Amino acid sequence: MRKHYREEGLAESGLAATPVAQFAAWFQQAATEGRLFEPNAMVVSTADAEGRPSSRTVLLKGFDERGFVFYTNYESRKGRDLSENPYVSLLFPWHPMARQVIVQGVARRTGRDETAAYFRTRPHGSQLGAWASAQSSVIATRAEVDAAYSELAARYPEGEQVPVPPHWGGFRVAPSSVEFWQGRENRLHDRLRYVAEPDGGWHVERLSP
Ligand SMILES: Cc1cc2nc3c(=O)[nH]c(=O)nc-3n(C[C@H](O)[C@H](O)[C@H](O)COP(=O)(O)O)c2cc1C
Repeated sequence: MRKHYREEGLAESGLAATPVAQFAAWFQQAATEGRLFEPNAMVVSTADAEGRPSSRTVLLKGFDERGFVFYTNYESRKGRDLSENPYVSLLFPWHPMARQVIVQGVARRTGRDETAAYFRTRPHGSQLGAWASAQSSVIATRAEVDAAYSELAARYPEGEQVPVPPHWGGFRVAPSSVEFWQGRENRLHDRLRYVAEPDGGWHVERLSP
């Protein structure tokens, strides 16, 4: 299969009109081929106000022409970084398909209604977990979070509505460029990058492998 992709390559003529449409096509293949454990797992890189970078894996929970959405704790390191510096990179490491997609853009918080609608779709335990963990803060023991969770589970038993934590929600990354990387023979990979135009359109440029 990997060989097949390499032979197939990625040509300008085969690209969709927008990076999101092209992403949708690749994402659909990644999701249906079954060779990726979590095709929606992406590496999110942020930088703080001084430009110090950090990366972590996060799950993509939705995408459309407005951008790519993930959910997290706004007080986490990434949450704080993004409130100081909204520039972000998302990287999809689809190695078994010899593919990689890199999105660069600007992250903005999703509206509270959108966050609440998504929060309600999460399993009850995950909803409690969002309250129980002050994500990325240093803690003394595991017991601290287990105790916080137990307390919350007693307050909000299964079936009871858990309020949306104010410190938790989504970010939508509006892309300014999206690179599609397709592995090819002899390290002569295909790299096609959509770059946003001021008028809202896109132009595509080919990068040397
Ligand atoms: C496969 C996978 C999926 C993850 N998904 C999320 C997610 O959707 N949201 C999130 O906040 N953290 C997620 N995490 C945890 C993050 O990698 C990270 O540990 C956490 O968000 C704190 O990151 P920070 O301290 O850099 O902000 C995931 C981790 C893995 C390995």
